[in-house]
Amino acid sequence: MSLKPSSTRAGVTRIWHTLAFRLTAAYASAGLLLVLLATLSLYLLLVSELNKSTELFLKDKVNVLRTMLQERPEEPDGLREEVELESAARRYEQFYICLLDPQGKTLLMTPGMENQLNLSELPKLLSGHGGSAISMRGNNGKSFRVIAATAHFGDAQDPLITMEIAVDVTQTEGLLRRFRLWFWITSAGMLVLFPFVGYHIARQGIRPVEEITTTARRITSSHLGERIVAEGYPYELASLALTFNRMLDGLEDSFERISRFSADIAHDLRTPVNNIRGEAEVALARARTIDEYRDALESSLEEAVRLSDLIGNLLFLARTESPLTHLRLEPVDVAELLEGVRDYYDASAADAGVTLTSAGAGEAVVAELDRTLIQRAVGNLVSNAVAHTPEGGVVTIKAHAQVANVLIEVTDTGVGIPLDALPRVFDRFFRVDASRSKASGGTGLGLSIVQGIMQLHRGTVEIASKPGAGTRVTLSMPARGQSNSLLS
Ligand SMILES: Nc1ncnc2c1ncn2[C@@H]1O[C@H](COP(=O)(O)OP(=O)(O)OP(=O)(O)O)[C@@H](O)[C@H]1O
Ligand SMILES: [Mg+2]
Repeated sequence: MSLKPSSTRAGVTRIWHTLAFRLTAAYASAGLLLVLLATLSLYLLLVSELNKSTELFLKDKVNVLRTMLQERPEEPDGLREEVELESAARRYEQFYICLLDPQGKTLLMTPGMENQLNLSELPKLLSGHGGSAISMRGNNGKSFRVIAATAHFGDAQDPLITMEIAVDVTQTEGLLRRFRLWFWITSAGMLVLFPFVGYHIARQGIRPVEEITTTARRITSSHLGERIVAEGYPYELASLALTFNRMLDGLEDSFERISRFSADIAHDLRTPVNNIRGEAEVALARARTIDEYRDALESSLEEAVRLSDLIGNLLFLARTESPLTHLRLEPVDVAELLEGVRDYYDASAADAGVTLTSAGAGEAVVAELDRTLIQRAVGNLVSNAVAHTPEGGVVTIKAHAQVANVLIEVTDTGVGIPLDALPRVFDRFFRVDASRSKASGGTGLGLSIVQGIMQLHRGTVEIASKPGAGTRVTLSMPARGQSNSLLS
């Protein structure tokens, strides 16, 4: 597979029309978006948690100082220690405290606080923040979070002291800055990595499709043996390959039948034509008596009749397959129709020493059928049964209704059909014993015609046979006809 656009019969395939490109683009943008969203939400969570912890630290300090001011105003040393010494001992996250009396005069202050912060600006910045911390930039470029609160020095009647507490958050700011920097570096990396990974994943996924396409390209009517080896394919594509292979099996089989059919037609047409030609050439080779000419003409006529029957059958078959062919339906008493067929074949059955009976003639089975076609189908079955039943055998024709269908059965006690030949008896030109059937005049089209007639009636034909015991063919068709047009 390649992302390179290739040209097709319809024109040039643009790169964004390829599945590989679309999958890559979808994978890359979805992946990138998810990573950006995840990282951004982590960053926001981190900022909020750090702010919260700084705020808690400051509020904690406020509480400690307030307690010291209110409950132990007589111990100024503890207060001084808290304000002046504790912060000085810290290297990181240093905090600064400033206590102001009601007049704004500084009572106590962490040493160095006035160098770090612009204290005169503080009251303005803190006003309106209702006791929550604010961010402030220090004099040396450092970052601070500052909070202000009040407390009474002793009882409520005592003066109100203002406490200003600032904590150095430069370390935290640095951490967040490094986080942001890494965020942008990783995003840039993802921008390159995701399309690359997406392309390889798409490549893997599409490879079977490409192999199927390549196989399909290799297939032509004379080269139908190609099959897709679906080993290792994902389930969906394996089932596509399987369906494709099955379709090829069907096509190969159909092509084989068609080419065999064409060869059979050519052969079966050539034989009588050659015979006529041979007869004519022999007759014309020298002067003949009237009787010799008559013989030659008679056998030529026989061959011509055979030829014309064959062509007639082929034309009929072609018509049964045409979607434009319709039936001439009429209510038919099926039992009566079967009796007609029996009467027609009675003489030839008797000649062959076979008993021909139509059972269940008393049962009234009326169905909407094309009388001529059904007569022809049943006639073909009876002629087969008689032809393959030895002297003394019995051929039975019977009809009966079954739910919405009418069934016609032709049963014989003849030689039967070998099991391996059974699935092919409906193929055109198929004869179990080609040489023997040929002698008896069979062309191998009779059962194909029966099948064609059944298809026109939207019915089915089934054959069951036991070699040496006999054969039964069952025609089943809807009692109420499905077509109302004419077979011209
Ligand atoms: N009742 C049967 N008993 C035994 N074999 C049969 C029977 N019916 C059909 N067959 C076998 O099936 C083959 C195909 O039958 P089909 O009717 O299509 O052709 P055919 O009888 O040989 O020729 P056609 O019917 O065109 O004159 C026959 O050649 C025969 O070998
Ligand atoms: Mg036949």
